[in-house]
Amino acid sequence: MKIVIASDHGGFEYKAMLLPFLEALGHEVTDFGCRTEDATDYSDYAIPAAQAVAASEFDRGILICGTGIGMSISANKVQGVRCALCGDLLTAKLTREHNDSNMLALGGRIIGPETAKAIVAVWLGTEFSAAERHQRRIDKISTFETTNER
Ligand code: RB5
Repeated sequence: MKIVIASDHGGFEYKAMLLPFLEALGHEVTDFGCRTEDATDYSDYAIPAAQAVAASEFDRGILICGTGIGMSISANKVQGVRCALCGDLLTAKLTREHNDSNMLALGGRIIGPETAKAIVAVWLGTEFSAAERHQRRIDKISTFETTNER
């Protein structure tokens, strides 16, 4: 898959760790920054990455900050993005099956490195269930995004 990855300083170390991990899994990875561990603003990285996923430039996106919260909030402001903050394997699996999440957010100061890698592997390896009830719920979000109507 074509994957975009981005972080702020709180996720910089995990981004550096996940890049070769993703490539070893056979994915093509593009790094949208940040480039150093200097303090920076998560939205400056989350929003461009989310826009690139929404524009179908990438199949999926992975975002990392200290908690994963700032990244996920920012990404979910972009129309068409469903960014799931995951801290465990079951959530990673279910957000693919139920929400068809196209972006994953991780907390680099919250979870351990092996957990982060396992979450990424499960999230990338799980298909959307395409069950009617799940698609219907996603469609309701899309309708609201585009019309501001429920
Ligand atoms: C940076 O200190 C931290 O606030 C950020 O990485 C993230 O956790 C925000 O949600």
